[in-house]
Amino acid sequence: MRLLVTGGCGFIGTNFIYLMLERHPDWAIYNLDKLTYAGNRKNLLPVEQGPDKDRYHFLHGDICDRDYVEQILRDHHIDAVVNFAAESHVDRSINDPSPFVTTNVQGAQNLFECARQTGIGRFVHVSTDEVYGTLGPEGKFMESTPLAPNSPYSASKAGADLMARAYFETYGLPVVITRCSNNYGPYQFPEKLIPLMFQNAKANKSLPVYGDGMNIRDWIYVDDHCTGVELALLKGREGQAYNFGGNAEKPNIEVVKTILAALDKPESLITYVKDRPGHDKRYAMDFSLAHSELSFSPSLDFTEGIRKTLEWYEANTEWLEDVQSGAYREFMQEWYKERK
Ligand code: NAD
Ligand code: DAU
Repeated sequence: MRLLVTGGCGFIGTNFIYLMLERHPDWAIYNLDKLTYAGNRKNLLPVEQGPDKDRYHFLHGDICDRDYVEQILRDHHIDAVVNFAAESHVDRSINDPSPFVTTNVQGAQNLFECARQTGIGRFVHVSTDEVYGTLGPEGKFMESTPLAPNSPYSASKAGADLMARAYFETYGLPVVITRCSNNYGPYQFPEKLIPLMFQNAKANKSLPVYGDGMNIRDWIYVDDHCTGVELALLKGREGQAYNFGGNAEKPNIEVVKTILAALDKPESLITYVKDRPGHDKRYAMDFSLAHSELSFSPSLDFTEGIRKTLEWYEANTEWLEDVQSGAYREFMQEWYKERK
């Protein structure tokens, strides 16, 4: 298979490319990435320079660029596309929604259109549980749950999901949508809860917990999500959306305390700060459809997953420093000023 992965220099894309190259020695992977603040080409340097270099190709560019995307699909005889490229951070979308609409909606539509024009045989569009909005104390999101996004980020992802559906219904685009819960693992940008808390705790800086810390997320180790995307690519039904989750619902405060305990740091580092506007209370995924149709189930439990994750960040503190550009620092300083 000749696969175009978009956003492959980000957190999940990087892990996905490593896994697919290992699991499918006959695949060639083309990675189209704009290299925003969240994309790091160096993540995959060992592949670019290693024994797999002939079947991995980095392409610098924007998913919104119609001519370039069409050229890639034609010139490299691409069989299938997996779209990870996105603006992914909810807090940033609250500060400025517009790049979220540009990349997450217009960029996705551009990819669907280019895939339609070139007759791509398979398209996996990677979406999120956040398109469903928020849950009360009971129940789980199903694929039939109405979309009710609450942040500019999740609204932009929901927009792309609806466009994917329209491309399937109208033009027969062979698209499969995946919706996953919160990922954690290596290479996650330290604006997201787990690497941010790791980094602050290591530096004995305060750990900003939004609101009362009782918002619940369903955590999944990134490799399990990547396996879900792989299964959707290989076996998913065209036009169908599939939920993936980790069966690991945790209030944020419990995750933060787990990290502090693992690093042997005091809970006095925790600071409760102003809540995120529109903060979704609880996410939980019913992934029985993915289980029955794709044989998906998460393989790593949270205790083991968080141990592996913290071990990776301990061993890669220079990666954390490397990815934090001046632009990132400025953003965080502004953000914290508003929160206090
Ligand atoms: P990330 O922010 O770590 O990476 C995004 C990548 O996309 C970066 O490499 C960035 O450079 C690239 N990119 C951004 N705009 C682009 C553009 N216009 N053209 C080309 N490349 C562009 O994100 P992530 O956490 O790896 O998430 C990947 C995908 O998975 C996203 O679509 C996100 O919505 C979805 N998702 C994430 C999670 C999670 O917990 N992180 C859970 C469910 C779904
Ligand atoms: O659910 C899937 C989604 O998970 C993905 O679609 C998004 O791309 C991804 O960013 C993630 O969104 P969240 O908003 O859930 O992740 P984040 O790591 O930003 O926050 C997790 C929880 O922790 C959330 O309830 C907010 C809280 N939080 C976060 C940060 C950064 C804090 O309490 N303090 C913080 O400093």
